[in-house]
Amino acid sequence: MRRETFDTVILGAGAAGMMCAIHAAARGGRVLIVDHAKAPGEKIRISGGGRCNFTNVGASARNFISGNPHFAKSALGRYTPQHFIAMVEKHGIAYHEKTLGQLFCDRSARDIIAMLVGEMARAGCEMRLSTTPERIERNEAGFTVTLGGERAATVGCRHVVVACGGKSIPKMGATGLGYQIAKQFGLAVTETRPGLVPLTFGEDVLRGFREIAGVAADVRVSCGKAAFEEALLFTHRGLSGPAVLQISSYWRETQPIRIAFLPSADIGVLLCAAKRENGRRSIQTALGELLPRRLAAHLAEKQGWSGTLAEASDRKLAEIAGMLQNWELYPAGTEGYRTAEVTLGGVDTACLDSRSMAAKAVPGLFFIGEVVDVTGWLGGYNFQWAWASGWAAGTEI
Ligand code: FDA
Repeated sequence: MRRETFDTVILGAGAAGMMCAIHAAARGGRVLIVDHAKAPGEKIRISGGGRCNFTNVGASARNFISGNPHFAKSALGRYTPQHFIAMVEKHGIAYHEKTLGQLFCDRSARDIIAMLVGEMARAGCEMRLSTTPERIERNEAGFTVTLGGERAATVGCRHVVVACGGKSIPKMGATGLGYQIAKQFGLAVTETRPGLVPLTFGEDVLRGFREIAGVAADVRVSCGKAAFEEALLFTHRGLSGPAVLQISSYWRETQPIRIAFLPSADIGVLLCAAKRENGRRSIQTALGELLPRRLAAHLAEKQGWSGTLAEASDRKLAEIAGMLQNWELYPAGTEGYRTAEVTLGGVDTACLDSRSMAAKAVPGLFFIGEVVDVTGWLGGYNFQWAWASGWAAGTEI
């Protein structure tokens, strides 16, 4: 088997790994980045519906879930969305803000991959695809990494950067290797679970809304102290849409979630006003002016809200409003890693230096990106963490 020497070996050519490679190589080190996939940045390619929501202009540590809510502050504060935007603009990549500070490529997520691959090549980083790290051993000089696959080799290096991502979407190459490496070197790994994932429901609940699969509505969804105002989507298996994906990261088995339709208004007040204005309208028609019509018709039928507004007492209208703005549901579970956008939990931040992402007890070993117990909300935050943590390690090596 061939023997080679590099300063740094980066495991995983995803968002975090490529960002780290650019900066580590720019500092003059010999950098090798390896990935078992045939192409780099596969998750970038499919992200944001193919347009990559590459950052969020408002990203700060409050948009992340972690055992230590302060851990991400250092990297996020030093490598900000503006830094990444400047890189995107330098490469002439056209982008737009969609909503809530979310920036997307105008053309294609492939533009971001091409930018990162181009920057890595310019910095002199070597990339090997279809290559699997089989063994990592520590020695006096640093590490020996045994690589299998198309170009099997043993590589001696001073630094190993673990950028293997989480467990979400195994079909896209997620393996959980990063957690195994952490454990091998004695680092704690917090409980991992799927995040940003659709919620599923038992047959008893599904019966109530399966017929309206495909209907979307603006809602406030809450679970415990967490709440998000965005769109909800009814599906054949349960609930999805941005609001539900967001709350899924906070939801735990046996907890209820609460849904409020038309969250910025008081539906009771609106129905009473509608009654005074024209009481001959049916309750269903009045609701159809406030909510998506299919949803209003479905709820009116299922709940037996028949008759006109005039026939309903103000108390009855308040009751209807109460149901629509405080709907409590018990999810049965989630769709799991098959469709989850991220993995919650990961390498315990207590084991890492927040400035450099280095393992405190293992000199030369770094963990960046999703493998770390730092998980962002939906909306470009997870890529911002990948860029910021990759930069933090890359500029420290
Ligand atoms: P990432 O998963 O990107 O990279 C890890 C790399 O390691 C992969 O290339 C993988 O092949 C490699 N690897 C894994 N195991 C290996 C092994 N055993 N051997 C060798 N290589 C191995 N976020 C966001 O901010 N905006 C968005 O628009 C989206 N959209 C989105 C859509 C979908 C469908 C998903 C699944 C996820 C998103 N995300 C997102 C989340 C975002 O993609 C994610 O947080 C980052 O890609 C994480 O970057 P990492 O580099 O840490 O891991």
